[in-house]
Amino acid sequence: MPKVKVALIGVGNCASSFIQGIQYYEKLQKPEDCIGLRNPVLAGLSPKDIQVVAAFDVDERKVGKELSLAIFAQPNNAPKVCDVPAAGVKVSKGPLLDGVGNSTKAIIQVSNAPDADVVKVLKAAGAEVLVNLLPSGATKASQWYAEQALLAGCAFVNATPTFIASDPAWAKRFEAAKLPLVGDDLVDQVGSTALHKTLLKLLSDNGVRINETYQLDVGGGTESVDTLDRSRDAKRTIKTESVAASIPYKADIVAGSTDYVDFLQNKRDSYFWISGVYFCNAPMKIDLKFQTVDAPNAGSVLFDVVRAVKLALNKKFKGAVEPVCAYGFKRPPQMVSLEVAEKEFAKFLS
Ligand SMILES: NC(=O)c1ccc[n+]([C@@H]2O[C@H](COP(=O)([O-])OP(=O)(O)OC[C@H]3O[C@@H](n4cnc5c(N)ncnc54)[C@H](O)[C@@H]3O)[C@@H](O)[C@H]2O)c1
Repeated sequence: MPKVKVALIGVGNCASSFIQGIQYYEKLQKPEDCIGLRNPVLAGLSPKDIQVVAAFDVDERKVGKELSLAIFAQPNNAPKVCDVPAAGVKVSKGPLLDGVGNSTKAIIQVSNAPDADVVKVLKAAGAEVLVNLLPSGATKASQWYAEQALLAGCAFVNATPTFIASDPAWAKRFEAAKLPLVGDDLVDQVGSTALHKTLLKLLSDNGVRINETYQLDVGGGTESVDTLDRSRDAKRTIKTESVAASIPYKADIVAGSTDYVDFLQNKRDSYFWISGVYFCNAPMKIDLKFQTVDAPNAGSVLFDVVRAVKLALNKKFKGAVEPVCAYGFKRPPQMVSLEVAEKEFAKFLS
């Protein structure tokens, strides 16, 4: 079985977990031993069939470095779960554009190395799938890399909240180029958005009228610093819209990242508040906190999405691949319920 050749934009915390995950699960042969993976095998592919062949960043502590070392460079703070052997991939310098915002300029040390010819690097590496892991607020940079995917003939996975797969104009361009496109804003495996939607739906299905609800996060990764800058925080809109779609009436809803607490490192504390009424207007309230580690939360879903996109490439899908978007992302081109998303994804795989 040929490998899925992946290139990563942004060697931050998600990239670190993704690459460590490939190594971590490589040794586990039996699917039942692969604890933490939703799909040990998907479309006939295991995580070890994913090969990262190129990577781009702007931070001088990562640019020019062997990728297996760059993933552990500061300011990354995703947990180290295993050593990663060198695979001969050096991190290339991408153009900065809006990759660094006001809140993160003290954290990211921009390299003065010349920008690489991104299309040339992608073609030389034989990259098939370009995965966008830029900071949330990097809208122009995300769009620029989507252009490079078109020029290099790569499928594009947009894990960031920039509207690309959900923008019909981009979907048309990928369709014209006969390339698959999926996004936007990856769903977490143990996600606060999915949990929030599930709770609201459960309550609502049971006749509860939700009046107001919020879900707020506190995290210690660079990404939490980036979303402090409200002008760069599309995530709040995406999360709020996604949560609102889980109940069939209007309620006061706020969902989004809120604050940065450095000592949390890569951990994320998520707070949920739900207030509503049920039989004869009796009040109910839920006040809940749960804690996850941020970067590993992207790993399993990214593995699934990358393998599904390889299937889409094999089957010559073009433009936005709706079942993969709905399964793996908070803002697909068309918002559907979690149940419909699961069903459509299973149908796509079969
Ligand atoms: N569980 C999760 O971590 C999760 C879930 C859903 C979505 N996402 C999305 O994934 C993305 C990545 O998250 P992260 O935690 O890895 O972020 P991060 O801040 O740790 O990493 C971003 C990386 O991009 C690099 N960068 C900045 N500008 C660049 C440019 N112009 N070209 C190339 N590289 C550049 C930074 O130096 C950094 O290494 C974010 O958009 C986030 O919203 C993450």
